[in-house]
Amino acid sequence: MRTSPIISHKSMTAEEAASLIRNGETVGTSGFTPAGYPKAIPIALAARAREIHAAGEEFRIQLWTGASAGDELDGELVRAHALSKRIPYQSNKDLRNAINSGEVEFVDLHLSHVAQFIRYGFIDQCTTAIVEAIDVTTDGKIYLSMAGGMSATYIKQADRVLIELNEHFLEEMKGLHDVYLPAPPPHRAAIPIYHPSDRIGVPYVQVDPKKIVGIVKTNLPDSNAEFRAPDAESDAIAGHIIDFLKHEERMGRLPKNLPFQSGVGNVANAVLCRLASTPGIDPIMMYTEVVQDSIFQLIDADRLDCASTCALTLSPKAQERFQREINLHKDRFVLRQQEMSNHPEVIRRVGIISMNTAVEIDLFGNVNSTHVLGSKMLNGIGGSGDFCRNAYISIFMTPSTAKNGNISAVVPMVTHVDQNEHSVQVVVTEQGLADLRGLSPVKKARLIIEKCAHPDYRGLLREYLDYGLENAPSKHTPHVLERAFEFHNRLAKNGSMRA
Ligand code: COA
Repeated sequence: MRTSPIISHKSMTAEEAASLIRNGETVGTSGFTPAGYPKAIPIALAARAREIHAAGEEFRIQLWTGASAGDELDGELVRAHALSKRIPYQSNKDLRNAINSGEVEFVDLHLSHVAQFIRYGFIDQCTTAIVEAIDVTTDGKIYLSMAGGMSATYIKQADRVLIELNEHFLEEMKGLHDVYLPAPPPHRAAIPIYHPSDRIGVPYVQVDPKKIVGIVKTNLPDSNAEFRAPDAESDAIAGHIIDFLKHEERMGRLPKNLPFQSGVGNVANAVLCRLASTPGIDPIMMYTEVVQDSIFQLIDADRLDCASTCALTLSPKAQERFQREINLHKDRFVLRQQEMSNHPEVIRRVGIISMNTAVEIDLFGNVNSTHVLGSKMLNGIGGSGDFCRNAYISIFMTPSTAKNGNISAVVPMVTHVDQNEHSVQVVVTEQGLADLRGLSPVKKARLIIEKCAHPDYRGLLREYLDYGLENAPSKHTPHVLERAFEFHNRLAKNGSMRA
């Protein structure tokens, strides 16, 4: 029972809470990926926005979250035309369309940078924070739900705090979080995380209880879709990564017990499933920003040592299991604020093996994870840059083709750069894996073509490279600018990158 007197004193309905939000306000919410985000207040706020619009008045807010959020937040508000600007990551179809149509401004940020942007006013500070919690005490201890995200910073910065007390989550879930905010530079001490399971803070966010202006009781799970079962392509990608890691270990280039970071999406989920089922793998540690359903495959195979994450992004079935077994999981899971889960210092110190997904990769090892044809935003860079730049080994993976083979994931030049050739070390598709470390641009290009490109596109890519070696003004990175986007131009014109 959640019985602190503050809960009854500050109790209100979602509609009452929504009525406190003003037109033009900047609202910061809990949540990171569709986990731990508020649900009832945003739904009520969207309904209120529709009413205000019907009366001919303006109502739009700026929405800051940890990363993406569930449809109850992003989807509801954008369909009500109640969003003017959004940071720092999203994955909702309707919001994506509104961003690409120009209705909503979007700022795509490295997730580890968001706290500093807010703290020092690089971007508007939020005036209201809305956070989902499992419990709250009269002296202002807020126990967050399934994600750390940006909650501690938004709660600190905001003038007032609204809480969604979600009774769907068991009280036994309290204690998973480790909340730590660093001191300001230049007097910041080392972040004392030396092992993924280290705890350096407290399991709640402390707030002055006077700032809590309303508490809304809810009982709603996070709305995450089930993952696709790993298909042949993602299974092959996973197989290449595991062979590579075993090879690196044999060569003495991979110390034992390096933690893994694994990105969002179906491919990343499949790789962890394969790590769980391949014989001869020792239990792994994770220092990551998101844990998906595949964590249970690792647990069931007795392959999970511990997991530090920012969010538990689980399907409803997996959420139910996690809660049912909470006493088995509590000791080996730590939920952190994103400033810590993605902290470059810790990532470099513990030596992470980072695995993220690309949309396209170019011949010289630059990666685009966010844009289609250079202009259409998919989701955002998320934490991929935080991990890629600072990892011990940084791997990017993608199927070699998309859209029935009409798109090659290996292209002469990417149409948008998220991770550049200086940070990307290994690329892998279902065709094979290219270890780019220590290679000059032309050698990288040859290896990517032969190991990673789909056979349908290898000839075209070889021809582009050879043409560049003959005709480019310089042979170091032999791009021929008038031809660099010929794959994309063919796609735009003919619906296929094929010749
Ligand atoms: N051109 C156009 N579309 C492409 C494409 C390309 N080169 N490559 C993939 N796509 C499309 C797919 O066809 C699919 O479209 P659909 O939704 O219409 O079916 C969509 O992009 C997503 O591809 P999918 O294969 O389902 O990938 P995923 O679920 O593994 O997600 C990313 C891939 C890149 C979108 C996702 O990993 C991401 O947002 N990454 C950036 C953030 C990040 O890496 N965070 C890491 C830390 S958690």
